[in-house]
Amino acid sequence: MSVLFFDRIDDLRAKMGEWRRADQRIALVPTLGNLHGGHQSLMEVAMDKADRVVVSIFVNPMQFGLGEDYQNYPRTMEADTERLRDVGVDVLFAPLLQEVYPNGYEKTTHIEVPVLSESLCGATRPGHFRGVATVVCKLFNMVHPDLAVFGEKDWQQLTVIRRMVEDLALPVQIVGAPTVRESDGLARSSRNVYLSPSERLIAPALHRIMQQGAERIRAGDRAFESIERAAMGALTDAGFRPEYVAARHGDLLTVPEADANPEELRILAAAWLGKARLIDNIPVA
Ligand code: PAJ
Repeated sequence: MSVLFFDRIDDLRAKMGEWRRADQRIALVPTLGNLHGGHQSLMEVAMDKADRVVVSIFVNPMQFGLGEDYQNYPRTMEADTERLRDVGVDVLFAPLLQEVYPNGYEKTTHIEVPVLSESLCGATRPGHFRGVATVVCKLFNMVHPDLAVFGEKDWQQLTVIRRMVEDLALPVQIVGAPTVRESDGLARSSRNVYLSPSERLIAPALHRIMQQGAERIRAGDRAFESIERAAMGALTDAGFRPEYVAARHGDLLTVPEADANPEELRILAAAWLGKARLIDNIPVA
């Protein structure tokens, strides 16, 4: 099966219109490309829930900060196209920069999701979630999907997008898909290619250390700050430069009260290992 390729909005819309008139359900899976097993699992969820699946690949400059890896972000269009063909998705939409940002991205009309965007990754990456929310909203307007699939791997991103859709009454269903991990527990990520062989051996400690924190909460410990501090220390000892480890309410990302139900909590973390900034999150219970 061949994959239809579009890099212009008008051409994509013509095809989407055709499918919509035939009453076909359309799913969108937005990505930055460099596709791996994590992305593939989202495509499989999408194929399960819709008649037609569109995967977008767009390395969105607006969500990268100064000094971040926009220029060096792995771009592997050929291998990506092959994977899309193997999986059997219908469309690859890889819009040109000027299609997405006809007036440039620095001063474009944008979407701001307050509060949820400001903590955790938002604290060290100011403007990141503005860039994510803006491009995702634009992709929704270009594709008009019935549903869109996002990974739980980027939990804060998922909460930001759900809030945007709710607040702006966007007519799209958001589906979250579980994190796909390597056999040693490391969450799959395009940025794992930045790890040296010795760092790759250390990397699964992030998931392990988060699990130890979750275990303490499950055992009844509610000293969240002390649990977070212990995890930060363990990460530093293992060779990471941790940004944060946080026990939070899953939906609101607020700091939990002492009587919080563990089923509503998640542990989220971001830590640098060499040149790679790794993020992960797990449910507590
Ligand atoms: P990207 O990092 O390419 O991820 C695309 C989608 O794949 C996201 O929904 C992400 O959560 C999901 N994903 C990545 N690794 C995963 C894993 N190991 N298991 C499950 N899902 C995984 O996230 C982005 O791109 C961008 O911010 C984007 C939403 C495309 C906006 O530009």
